[in-house]
Amino acid sequence: MRVLAIETSCDETGVAIYDNQQGLLAHTLYSQVAMHAEYGGVVPELAARDHIQKTIHLVETVMTDSGSTPLDLDGVAYTAGPGLVGALLVGATIARSMAYAWNRPAIAVHHMEGHLLAPMLEDNPPAFPFVALLASGGHTLLIHVKGIGQYELLGESVDDAVGEAFDKTAKLLGLGYPGGSALAALAEAGNPTRFHFPRPMIDRPGLDFSFSGLKTFALNTIMQQGLDEQTKADVAYAFQEAAVDTLFIKCRRALRQTNMNTLVVAGGVGANRLLRQRLIHMAAEEGGRVYFPRPEFCTDNGAMIAYAGCQRLMAGECNGLSIEVYPRWPMSNL
Ligand code: KG4
Ligand code: ZN
Repeated sequence: MRVLAIETSCDETGVAIYDNQQGLLAHTLYSQVAMHAEYGGVVPELAARDHIQKTIHLVETVMTDSGSTPLDLDGVAYTAGPGLVGALLVGATIARSMAYAWNRPAIAVHHMEGHLLAPMLEDNPPAFPFVALLASGGHTLLIHVKGIGQYELLGESVDDAVGEAFDKTAKLLGLGYPGGSALAALAEAGNPTRFHFPRPMIDRPGLDFSFSGLKTFALNTIMQQGLDEQTKADVAYAFQEAAVDTLFIKCRRALRQTNMNTLVVAGGVGANRLLRQRLIHMAAEEGGRVYFPRPEFCTDNGAMIAYAGCQRLMAGECNGLSIEVYPRWPMSNL
């Protein structure tokens, strides 16, 4: 089965073609980051308008790159939520219209299920069941994954997502938007002993997270110390340590609680090098393994939507003709 997919949930237009026999045949991505950077964050109306400009062109690119014609396709997948309503509607409308014109089924994909299944695109993919940490700009979720569509939520952030905390702290440090990877790069020059940030909610039982206090701690530190170049790097270091350590502690707790030793990490923050190193080490200590997508498939992309859509179509699912999107869509409803 060969599936074309469109991802337009936020500020990235991702298009891909996945074939269950041959693997990922083509993928392409257009990032709007430069456009939104001027405003210090994503402007939803501009995002939607830009997806309109780019999507069809990117569809043509992947059709050419994979040597596919519409006749070769068995379905069209699209991100139906969660995300920005206008942005989602662009992808949903284009995907559904193509599916209708080509007389193929269309399938609505949950963006976080896409992230969750992204490691399946790599060589030696993980086997079910496993524990997944989904850490992105909008979500921080720990999930017990028993199979495709069988997701038990173990914990989530009660306030900011971890990527959001990275971005807000990066903004305080005068780094651009989104600032997660810039903050991580700056932390390399930080003094490890100057500041110690708290690890929120680790003393309480349970697997929920809270990250908004870390950004406030960063702000208070900056107010007290000023913002010279070394202090910026030291704050970046202490923030990253605290955020990564918190994720590390909760991942280990989730593995032990579920009696499992396979961990999957996905979402934009999954590209963080320190987090990857520490989780690789921890999973080995627990007698298991951690699986990540390649860094470019940690952040938003069309390939993960194509994979998830293909799995759901192969399972016999497909959606009716109406164009619907779900800006808020709990994974437990899948
Ligand atoms: O998954 P994603 O591309 O979009 C959402 O679905 O939200 O995640 C984007 C998030 C942003 O908050 C960004 O700052 C963060 O991932 N991020 C990172 C790194 N690369 C991206 N955070 C920490 N370290 C990184 N290397
Ligand atoms: Zn995402």
